Amino acid sequence: MKFNVLTIFPEILAGALKESILGKAVDKGIIELNLVDTREYAQDKHRMVDDYPYGGGPGMVMKPEPIFLAAESLETQHDIPLILLSPQGEVFNQELARELSEKDELVIICGRYEGVDERIIEGLNAREVSIGDYVITGGEFAALVIIDAVSRLIPGVLGDDRSCEDESFTTGLLEYPHYTRPASFRKLDVPDVLISGNHGRINRWRKERSLERTLKKRPDLLEKADLTEEDLEFLKSLGYEPESEK
Ligand code: ADE
Repeated sequence: MKFNVLTIFPEILAGALKESILGKAVDKGIIELNLVDTREYAQDKHRMVDDYPYGGGPGMVMKPEPIFLAAESLETQHDIPLILLSPQGEVFNQELARELSEKDELVIICGRYEGVDERIIEGLNAREVSIGDYVITGGEFAALVIIDAVSRLIPGVLGDDRSCEDESFTTGLLEYPHYTRPASFRKLDVPDVLISGNHGRINRWRKERSLERTLKKRPDLLEKADLTEEDLEFLKSLGYEPESEK
């Protein structure tokens, strides 16, 4: 998977993506980063990438020309997704991460300042994506979040590809609690069932904890989760009332 990122701060991404799991994935050639400094495509001698908004108002707006030229400089096929990071976009989630992880290539444009000239969205047919309902100083950190969430779904990036099979959100539920050694720590014990070696019981225990946690912390997820009759009965025993039965 190749990530083409258009930014005026390529070093923010270059530094973060050198480390840890993603750094290894880059070294192994499973992911490729093409960081494009849009300032290099600025058209005037001061290399301006932003300007005052027409109509007045606070803040600066990113100019269209550098971003158009940078996007056009990429040697990409026509149908690769072009994402513009913006707090106004559709909210990024695991489903979108999975959808994007199936592509060979992505273009990600990082906005800055008050926003970007509207013609960038229209003219480049950009899909606006937000990482959540809050405003950050620019798209670079949002790009890192998306690159991380997408990359770890690509086979070979995680040490064990099963790591992302039953984790939170993939199943539509939050994940069950995890424990490692020691079995007893400061009088806090690992649940007996996990030490029992009985995988049938362990699986059921994990499923129940996962259902219980989702009900407690993110009940909104239950409406969309793929629940069996047994799951539903268990949730009802904890006081859950499906919307359809209210
Ligand atoms: N730029 C500023 N805030 C953002 C957000 N929430 N998501 C994506 N890009 C942004």
